[in-house]
Amino acid sequence: STHYTGLINRYRDRLPVKDNTRIISLNEGNTPLIKLNNIPRMIGKDVDIYVKFEGLNPTGSFKDRGMTMAITQAVSEGSKAVICASTGNTSASAAAYAARAGIKAFVLIPDGKIAMGKLAQTLMYDATIIQINGNFDQGMNLVKEIADHAPVTIVNSINPYRLQGQKTASFEIIDDLGDAPDYHCLPVGNAGNISAYWMGYKEYSTDTATHKAVTHKRPVMCGYQAAGAAPFLAGHPVENPETVATAIRIGNPQSWDLAWAAHNESGGWFDKFSDDEILTAQKLLAQYEGIFCEPASAISIAGAMQDIKSGKIPEGSKVVCTLTGVGLKDPDTAIKQCAAAHPVTIEAELNAVKKAILDNM
Ligand code: F0G
Repeated sequence: STHYTGLINRYRDRLPVKDNTRIISLNEGNTPLIKLNNIPRMIGKDVDIYVKFEGLNPTGSFKDRGMTMAITQAVSEGSKAVICASTGNTSASAAAYAARAGIKAFVLIPDGKIAMGKLAQTLMYDATIIQINGNFDQGMNLVKEIADHAPVTIVNSINPYRLQGQKTASFEIIDDLGDAPDYHCLPVGNAGNISAYWMGYKEYSTDTATHKAVTHKRPVMCGYQAAGAAPFLAGHPVENPETVATAIRIGNPQSWDLAWAAHNESGGWFDKFSDDEILTAQKLLAQYEGIFCEPASAISIAGAMQDIKSGKIPEGSKVVCTLTGVGLKDPDTAIKQCAAAHPVTIEAELNAVKKAILDNM
């Protein structure tokens, strides 16, 4: 049968699952790789830009790739409860996969700093939400300690099964394009995802006892951070991270060494962008390509556009940008950004509608 049943079944021979393992899946993965039409033309450079739209996963973010693996493993070990700290997407994903598995999810979130869509999901999936008077980094530290004091499995990306699931995004890109791209641009927060992509690209380009290399090409990895939460640019953790892109409001990334390895081994770079630049890229992508991602995701577009314009990414390149989450995650930021274009109300009358159209042609 060709019925798609999720990334574990698709890439089973490259993932740590046994034949008799009960798979917890919501048919995640298999997300579209969409070629941009208008933005490359606007930049005026001859480049192919593709977006890997991870916001089209079952809970609206790339986290589902890691969560199908982490929850599958937790259940196989007999775990009855999972826990994570989160800026919103990990918590939504953990809650959904725990619901699917019939186990409990506890999520630690920074009070008032998670986007409305993420909160709504997590409530609906019926996780136990613990808001803390503190940020993601403080939540992460608490989660690492609590696992010694309560019977809960950590499903943050420090759980190695998370990165195993997330590496499959690289497999899909190579399977789609027929080869690795030249450059891969993505947002960096806790730094799990850049580490997972690099793991995937390396695995597909390495001969092993069980697999011949699919390609010998690997992309240059370009990691972008919000200016107010940019520890990789500072070279050390930062104390009070702040950004409108709440998903990546993180000062002390857990996958520090792995992300630097991706940077160094691929010959890549890190850069940072202001909140204004992030929101401008988010609007541009929605307005000119019809693709609505959340603010944190748009930083990969901001980065790719800047580095293509400057020539750092040369003409003739094939570039993939990961769009980590869907725009509906954070409706408040979107509506606020478009406040100037708020809808006008008219009489429910044909001539008034006609005027509203003709005035705006
Ligand atoms: N984009 C989005 C939409 C995210 O939610 C995250 C991380 C990232 C990018 C950064 O990925 O942490 O692997 O470098 N969100 C986590 C969460 C921290 O709790 O949902 P990363």
